[in-house]
Amino acid sequence: MRLLFFSVPMLFLQYCFMVSLTMATVKNLTTDQSVLLEFKDNVADPRSVLTNNWSILYPVCSWIGISCVTCHQRITALNISYMGLQGTIPPHLGNLSFLVYLDASYNSFHGHLPNELTRLHRLRYINFNYNELSGSFPPWIGVLSKLQTLGLRDNSFRGLIPNSLFNLSKLEKLDLGLNTVDGSIPSKIGNLSKLTLLNLVGNNLQGTFLLLFVVHFCINLHGCRFSFLNYQIF
Ligand SMILES: *[C@@H]1O[C@H](CO)[C@@H](O)[C@H](O)[C@H]1NC(C)=O
Ligand SMILES: *[C@@H]1O[C@H](CO)[C@@H](O)[C@H](O)[C@H]1NC(C)=O
Ligand SMILES: *[C@@H]1O[C@H](CO)[C@@H](O)[C@H](O)[C@H]1NC(C)=O
Ligand SMILES: *[C@@H]1O[C@H](CO)[C@@H](O)[C@H](O)[C@H]1NC(C)=O
Ligand SMILES: *[C@@H]1O[C@H](CO)[C@@H](O)[C@H](O)[C@H]1NC(C)=O
Ligand SMILES: *[C@@H]1O[C@H](CO)[C@@H](O)[C@H](O)[C@H]1NC(C)=O
Repeated sequence: MRLLFFSVPMLFLQYCFMVSLTMATVKNLTTDQSVLLEFKDNVADPRSVLTNNWSILYPVCSWIGISCVTCHQRITALNISYMGLQGTIPPHLGNLSFLVYLDASYNSFHGHLPNELTRLHRLRYINFNYNELSGSFPPWIGVLSKLQTLGLRDNSFRGLIPNSLFNLSKLEKLDLGLNTVDGSIPSKIGNLSKLTLLNLVGNNLQGTFLLLFVVHFCINLHGCRFSFLNYQIF
């Protein structure tokens, strides 16, 4: 058991080192920077929030909405919420391979979510609430197995909730309110045992299973907030 000889900080350093060794040949902070510049070139920014701020004159980790982790020197959080951005979501985002938080809420993005996002397997937080996205509910979502928060509220996603969603066993907050998702809510929703917030209000969903589900979870969980169909439980 050679592992026992390493202290925890040693292991952490080793991990950073190994990851840098394996990733450095492919991607680094410089590549993250070019991804963001591509992103900037591919969205409309009528309020010029990014225009002068996302500039190679300044270090990328100081750009508005960007957070980096020092250990890997890679971008871990992208928060472009409330920036009035327009256009489709550029697939380039899929190259930010260390991304953990992605908050693009309160913009005017339209079109579908690019499936390049499946490359971001470290993602724990996705928030596209209050945009104009459309298309079917992303069927690939179940690949992002670390996901804890998924916000797609007030967009125009339609169709059935894909089975792969129920693969997300770490999911704590799921907000699909105000879309046009339909069908019935599969009993598999019971697989999402960590859920503390579920909002499905303002969709075309149906099913008697719902009430049982709410009773089950709200008795077992302290402070859960669920809203379904066209009424709010709490
Ligand atoms: C980042 O990687 C590219 C090649 O992919 C390399 O040319 C560049 O020097 C690297 N930059 C840093 C800061 O390591
Ligand atoms: C990022 O990914 C896209 C494909 O999704 C690719 O075309 C592009 O060259 C990649 N690199 C950058 C820096 O955006
Ligand atoms: C970019 O925005 C960030 C966050 O608002 C700010 O701290 C930084 O000073 C800005 N940089 C420039 C060059 O304006
Ligand atoms: C993103 O920034 C907004 C304020 O601009 C803030 O309210 C929100 O909590 C941030 N999102 C994350 C995931 O930190
Ligand atoms: C479910 O998650 C596993 C990893 O936890 C992944 O390998 C698999 O592709 C996912 N399935 C779907 C349908 O997303
Ligand atoms: C839901 O959980 C059951 C066992 O609790 C498992 O057999 C099933 O594969 C899970 N379904 C999905 C879609 O992950």
